Amino acid sequence: MKHLLSVSDLTRDSATALLDDAERFEQALLGREVRKLPTLRGRTVMTVFYENSTRTRVSFEVAGKWMSADVINVSASSSSVSKGESLRDTAMTLHAAGADALIVRHPASGAAHQIAAWTNVDGNGPSVINAGDGTHEHPTQALLDALTLRQRLGSIEGKRVVIVGDILHSRVARSNAFLLAKLGAEVVLVAPRTLLPNGVDTWPVTVSSSIDAELPGADAVLLLRVQAERMNGGFFPSPREYSVRFGLSEKRLGQLAEHAVVLHPGPMLRGMEIASSVADSSKTAVLQQVTNGVHMRMAVLFRLLVGTDEVVA
Ligand code: CP
Repeated sequence: MKHLLSVSDLTRDSATALLDDAERFEQALLGREVRKLPTLRGRTVMTVFYENSTRTRVSFEVAGKWMSADVINVSASSSSVSKGESLRDTAMTLHAAGADALIVRHPASGAAHQIAAWTNVDGNGPSVINAGDGTHEHPTQALLDALTLRQRLGSIEGKRVVIVGDILHSRVARSNAFLLAKLGAEVVLVAPRTLLPNGVDTWPVTVSSSIDAELPGADAVLLLRVQAERMNGGFFPSPREYSVRFGLSEKRLGQLAEHAVVLHPGPMLRGMEIASSVADSSKTAVLQQVTNGVHMRMAVLFRLLVGTDEVVA
């Protein structure tokens, strides 16, 4: 596998192998005073972010550094992008500067695919990882969420995962829906009609408008951030109405089965999407997701830059 642009690049077996590799990296680093593996020594990994990020950018940087890669972070605001340089010129410049991997976040759906095409015309360009493109996909988020579900629930096959919120603008929802279905989960989307995308009837999911109807049978609830920045000033339902109809309150948490787990990709809007006490409860796996994000991104970098014939660690 040269790039990771979409969860459609993964088969059930290759996705499962990535979950296994992430756990191997976690084990390899466990208890070490110096968290440094030689795996990517001499490789250059560049993160190129045209949108803000905390978790994804930091975890890719940590992953690269723990594998001894040289990691360079490029942000749109502090690069020549702010002087008007085109996406293609920026991508080709980073390729020419020696990137072995380009990790790309961009507000336009398809940007990472386009960069992979531009930089690989000679078949010799960098591996490109989609770290979130518009409302399209965020494959490494789906992989780390799948890893977290597998750890919390023992398996993914046959588990009922309820994804709640702003499906329309969520690359996390799309990547999770398709990946979790591929791994054998039953996926239910809960959202107001205004926050469902056209064509959702072609997704491998069922759709519901009532969180209260779905919570009792859920093994996991994945809450989404309401992406006001993609709504052009219009916000319906209102934050108050959203909180009442779709927010995960303490009362709603009580409807979940004992074993059920709550996920959120972050950043969380406490008080609207999730009550603060719920966000901090032991049922919520938000920080486990972040930790898994580092190990999962190590697994992805390893797969793309080293291949599958080597021993992980
Ligand atoms: N989950 C996620 O993509 O978070 P960041 O925007 O902080 O990277």
